[in-house]
Amino acid sequence: MNTNNRLIDFVAGMARLVAEEARSEDYLLAQATAMMKELVAVDDWLMDEMARPHAQYYQQHLLYGDPLDRFSVVSFVWGPGQQTPVHDHTVWGVIGMLRGAEYGQRYEMREHGLVATGPEERLEAGQVIAVSPAIGDIHRVRNAFDDAVSISIHAYGGNIGKIQRSVFETGTRVAKPFVSGYANTMTPNLWRSA
Ligand code: FE2
Repeated sequence: MNTNNRLIDFVAGMARLVAEEARSEDYLLAQATAMMKELVAVDDWLMDEMARPHAQYYQQHLLYGDPLDRFSVVSFVWGPGQQTPVHDHTVWGVIGMLRGAEYGQRYEMREHGLVATGPEERLEAGQVIAVSPAIGDIHRVRNAFDDAVSISIHAYGGNIGKIQRSVFETGTRVAKPFVSGYANTMTPNLWRSA
């Protein structure tokens, strides 16, 4: 079997999902979570080009972008010890751990500024978490390892690389606008082979 078929099945499932009418965010997150669990259950399909870390920066490789910007699928590659700033997404998303592990710390904007909520949570290979403005959208994420690459697969209800969103500083109400973009300029061939 062409192992890319796992990714093609996932993208096809997402395309069907966003084409459904009258869908609530709860429904979208439940369906996308179930599909993401299936996708990250087996680590044999991610092409090497989309699994490449960078010595300095964590990498966001676009695996598939819906031409109508209804969803995007990204491989998020952590070099050893790399971490994000505190950031939001502004759209729903599901994050599945494919290889290694990562830590996520959630935050909430309060009257006097941004505060961490709850303990840092470790996401292990095969596990999936969700984010959205309705269920909690601000977090900081880091590679769980200082000596190994980790990779998580993200699917969002929009084109995450071109959405204007924000990074934050704890203890302040300052939101700095940013657009994350993508590390790659060419996306994988998702032609299904026999
Ligand atoms: Fe995030």
